[in-house]
Amino acid sequence: MNKYYITNAIPYVNARPHIGHALEFIQSDTIARFKKTQGFEVKLLCGGDENALKNVQAAEEAKQPIQEFVDKNNKLFEELAKSLNTEFDIWQKASTNSHFKSSQKLWEQCEKNGDIYKKSYEGLYCVGCESFYTKSQLNEKGECFEHPGKKLEEVKEENYFFKLSKYTNRLLEAISKEDMKILPSFRKEETLNMLKEIGDVSFSRPSKDIAWGVPVPSDATQTMYVWCDALANYITALGYGESFGSPTSTGNRTSKFERFWPADIHVVGKDIMKFHTIFWPAMLMSAGLSLPKIIFVHGWVNVKGEKMSKSLGNVIDPIPLIEKYGSEAVRFYLAHETSVFGDSDYSDKHFSEIYSGLLVNGLGNLLARTLKMISLYPAISKPEEGALARYPIKKNLEFLTTGEKKRWSFEQASPSFLVDNVLWLAYQKAMAAYEISQAIKNIWIYLGRLDEYIEDYKLYKMVKSQPEEAKVVLWHLAYSLASVAWMIKPFMPETADKILLSLGVEPTSREEWKEFSAKEFAHLFPRIQ
Ligand code: MSP
Repeated sequence: MNKYYITNAIPYVNARPHIGHALEFIQSDTIARFKKTQGFEVKLLCGGDENALKNVQAAEEAKQPIQEFVDKNNKLFEELAKSLNTEFDIWQKASTNSHFKSSQKLWEQCEKNGDIYKKSYEGLYCVGCESFYTKSQLNEKGECFEHPGKKLEEVKEENYFFKLSKYTNRLLEAISKEDMKILPSFRKEETLNMLKEIGDVSFSRPSKDIAWGVPVPSDATQTMYVWCDALANYITALGYGESFGSPTSTGNRTSKFERFWPADIHVVGKDIMKFHTIFWPAMLMSAGLSLPKIIFVHGWVNVKGEKMSKSLGNVIDPIPLIEKYGSEAVRFYLAHETSVFGDSDYSDKHFSEIYSGLLVNGLGNLLARTLKMISLYPAISKPEEGALARYPIKKNLEFLTTGEKKRWSFEQASPSFLVDNVLWLAYQKAMAAYEISQAIKNIWIYLGRLDEYIEDYKLYKMVKSQPEEAKVVLWHLAYSLASVAWMIKPFMPETADKILLSLGVEPTSREEWKEFSAKEFAHLFPRIQ
């Protein structure tokens, strides 16, 4: 069985999760579930980035012991993952002994390769980004672009540096040739531009100033830079280095590393791109390890065009939304309504409109109407081919396509034909390109047309006036809904199963359907005031 290792960024555990974290959870979980439907052995990772300075500062502000504080927040992230019905296989906490040891091993490998050296250093540190900046990288007020208004810490100290610049050419080549692919392509261009100005990076802080974190191996006066151990989590979680250097080792955890590394895809937000497209592959090159295959860089969820922040008081907590609308609705909203690679805006009003428009009155109502008509018959069996062609969709139908401006448009094709020969292909193509929102949008374009299809043939009258003929139209509807259920499985797993069960077919393995029947059924999406 082919493996597929997918990672989510491990969030800082300095505060409770917000809707931006929920978006990334849904993106990586949807991709992971899709790969499972394709038969891959999938490992999906997330965890807690515990060793950041911002965690320490937040714990101090809350007057709580650091570990207690980060544990509490880490738990909130795990709870969010659970409430969203995500299937994370690994939850890597960065304070564990094994993570410490394994990230130290990675450091030692880079050091052995001559890539770590000590230097007196003066710089400006942004705790928000957990990153050093030079003056030219700041705005005219001397603030970081990501965290305007926040004072940067002036640092003058001796610390360890990583020879990032040594890898510029190899990185340029790996990225240009797409040995490590960056999605979307404009982010690849951004990375290539950044590489023109890349220098070496500070990789540790004196432990007298920063004691919280992973000690530098063989020099306890220094603490590893948080991004160094945070990025390492992608391999420490697989047991990297546990029996490192021993080719005969067959220990479980080492074999997990051997089996799953390199990662097939790292899912990350645009703000942390350079760490994943530049720092991380250089560290891997230094340690002689393979590069991840894809870096998927998603956009942000904003509120009224602004970044969410505590100071603006506009942070959206996903938990009340899940409690009110259910996890399936939140999963749907995040997949359908947020652009994968661009930024999107969240508002409660928009959420409620989408919920009632596309879920209650859209999919929910279509299924309820269809089942009500199917329930007039003991079962709807597959009609012969000739009969199927008698009931095409009358109006034009346009699907969005990947990588091309033009849209596919069809009319006078029957729903079962369209669903098998067009929608399914468009779906596969979009999912293969990680255009998950396009994939689900096409499904809803199709569902919208099915509503009109019922009108095209006035099916509710037809079931009384021509009950035998009406069965053909009902077959098209049931077949389409069952096919849609299979397509939405990675997005809305519970809804998908409910649809299949309500149509009287097997939800766990895809079969060639011979008949559908209406089974007892509760509304998929209750109306909410
Ligand atoms: N701890 C680092 C990641 C280390 S990975 C080795 C970090 N944590 S974070 O909590 O700030 O962000 C976690 C992920 O959530 C990142 O990919 C980040 O881009 C994403 N998001 C944070 N805010 C977001 C939005 N408002 N919208 C969408 N995603 C955003 O960075």
